[in-house]
Amino acid sequence: MQHISIETGADGIALVRFDVIGRTMNTITAAFSQELEQLVERLKGDAAIKGAILTSGKDNGFIAGADLVEMEGDIARWRVASTQEELAGAVADCASLSRRLRAIETLGKPVVAAISGLALGGGMEVALACHYRVVADNPKIQLGFPEATIGLLPGAGGTQRLPRLIGLQAALPLLLQGKPVSPTKALELGFVDAVVPAADLIETAKAWLLSVGDPVARWDRKGFKLPGGAPYSSAGQQIMAGANAMLRSTSYGNYPAQEQILKAVFEGTQVPMDAGLRIESRRFLNTVQTPQAEAMVRTLFLSMQALGKGQGRATGRERFDPRKAGVLGAGMMGAGIAHAHALAGIDTVLIDVDQAAADKGKAHGDNLLDKAVRQGRLSQEKADAAKARICASTDYGDLAGADIVIEAVFENRALKAEVTRKAEAVLGSNAIFGSNTSTLPIDGLADASQRPESFVGIHFFSPVDRMRLVEIIRGKRTSDATIEAATDYVLRIGKVPIIVNDSRGFYTSRVFGTYIAEGYEMLAEGIAPAIIDNVGRMTGMPRGPLELSDDVALDLLDKVTKQTAADLGSAYVAKAQDGIVDRLVNQLGRLGRKNGRGVYDYAQDGSGKTLWAGLADLAPPSIVSSDAALVERIRLRLLYRQAIEAARCVDEGVIGDPRQADVGAILAWGFPAWTGGPLSFIDSVGAATFAAVADELARDHGDRFAIPPLLRKLAEERGRFYEAPIRQKAA
Ligand code: NAI
Repeated sequence: MQHISIETGADGIALVRFDVIGRTMNTITAAFSQELEQLVERLKGDAAIKGAILTSGKDNGFIAGADLVEMEGDIARWRVASTQEELAGAVADCASLSRRLRAIETLGKPVVAAISGLALGGGMEVALACHYRVVADNPKIQLGFPEATIGLLPGAGGTQRLPRLIGLQAALPLLLQGKPVSPTKALELGFVDAVVPAADLIETAKAWLLSVGDPVARWDRKGFKLPGGAPYSSAGQQIMAGANAMLRSTSYGNYPAQEQILKAVFEGTQVPMDAGLRIESRRFLNTVQTPQAEAMVRTLFLSMQALGKGQGRATGRERFDPRKAGVLGAGMMGAGIAHAHALAGIDTVLIDVDQAAADKGKAHGDNLLDKAVRQGRLSQEKADAAKARICASTDYGDLAGADIVIEAVFENRALKAEVTRKAEAVLGSNAIFGSNTSTLPIDGLADASQRPESFVGIHFFSPVDRMRLVEIIRGKRTSDATIEAATDYVLRIGKVPIIVNDSRGFYTSRVFGTYIAEGYEMLAEGIAPAIIDNVGRMTGMPRGPLELSDDVALDLLDKVTKQTAADLGSAYVAKAQDGIVDRLVNQLGRLGRKNGRGVYDYAQDGSGKTLWAGLADLAPPSIVSSDAALVERIRLRLLYRQAIEAARCVDEGVIGDPRQADVGAILAWGFPAWTGGPLSFIDSVGAATFAAVADELARDHGDRFAIPPLLRKLAEERGRFYEAPIRQKAA
């Protein structure tokens, strides 16, 4: 065996180490899965072996899950299986790991999983097939079943063993929501048996093995050998019904993986284990065959991973590895950015107009660090080191020697020009200057720079510590080297970069803005606001468009609209939104959530919100009851409007890589994950069908639904964003 080694001691305990060759982290490749079969043979065949400990030979985790990069071809094949024979073959393929894990479970000798690091998905399923699980005591270790979050179903026994082990009530959230838990939480829930210091892992496993006696008795106790046709309890039925209702009210049928998981659990708990596993394999295939699974695996796993690693970076140039950085403006964004630097080990000078403001920005980062220590996510030592990396200052002279500066002062052109000049006067000629502007075109800001080739937009999202996306904006004069350096920088601080060309609203705000604008169009047409926001949530967006406008802040929307009208003309402005928002802000002082008054009124104690009654005067509702046709039309308008704008961005060369467009949409503004992003959504619908629906929407609602030439071409040629080479216009 290449990926699995066995070492048997005098005590008859086999120490089995997983070390998948060619992978930095253990993942379940086809070769590794096959070796599990050989492993079972060896453990079974060697009479000297009394029991086994399965552990990782790598120091970064137990097993991270199935190797989806390698599996992409298989998944594509399974997806299109349709004849009886193809389907049977696909189910058998899907069941291969599951069968091998069942063989470990029924080996006849006790097996322990000794887990020193993360065990996710298939990795956790390997551990569940063992008879005892001991985990290193480290709150950072993640244990769980994230399959549902990428549109899949735990298909190697997870849906069968977990409910048998810890009961439906505890198992369902883990399987349906896919959120991993820490070792202590897993212990509390009951799917690990012991949590011990890392150094004691193997000894603890051994001690259990030597004391266990007959492993078969143990399975009975843990319910692994569920008696055939066990009567299904009424409590269980109630839990299932509750889960079903919850699913419907939160995911509106958008996530077939969750429905399949629920069915696999429901059906599986009523039959013996082997039958349950067969049901699970079939349900796994059903899930894989949904368009949601295709889109989610691609965007949320493959693309996300690729972008997070910085694929596509032209080789040859040395990686940009900043040691010292400057951040101008210690407000909400600047403070967050400096904090991200400190965590990544980059010394940072945080500058504001007076020392108190600079100190306040530093304190924000310090507080986040303290919180991480309290929650056990960071050691005190590391937190102290990070704190020491931020130097709060008012002196631009302190920027000397910085490799990169991020400007995050007020959104004001003249002020940004002034601080650009002040910083450049001190910086070396190789330094990168990044502006965190959210609305001002990069080309205009670069006019203030002595070295516009080193000037780039680096657009963070709020709150910086939680938002993973960073939009890198290439101005007309930004050099390739600067784009690469900016990409390296973003990766270095652990964020996911997308690269876009300069355009009004860049990519993210431009497309996101259409969602809010469409909500206001509907409001102006007389559709009741509650219907608009409800259907918005039903599409899978985190909030309805009107609620979101309150969150963004109505005065900011008003300001951006007016700036756009001044720069580009009123044709570029969303008129319905402008009319209503202008009155809300400038006549009524309703600024949104931030002053507790917007489209909604917000309770002072943060307990909730109610629709503002006065809105009915501004936009009298004439459509107050919803029927299925209206709901469907609203749903289409909200989704298509965004997808069409994303396609326009590709057509105009604002964004070149569909993966970046899709990942960006999901991470930046919560475009529904089930779609895999706006371009995946178009692909799933099919460009021709999409174009026909868009044409109808354009006829009924106006040119904002007109599709761009690239999409028309895809529709005519039955092309796809993910196959067709995407034309990238010069910046
Ligand atoms: P903020 O108002 O919280 O902070 C701006 C800071 O800049 C203030 O502390 C101010 O004292 C400081 N400042 C003003 N003049 C200065 C000077 N000459 N030198 C140094 N510091 C100076 O603003 P926020 O929200 O942090 O935004 C900053 C920038 O980031 C803006 O361009 C904004 O458009 C952009 N942005 C904001 C996002 C948000 O959600 N708030 C998201 C993405 C970008």
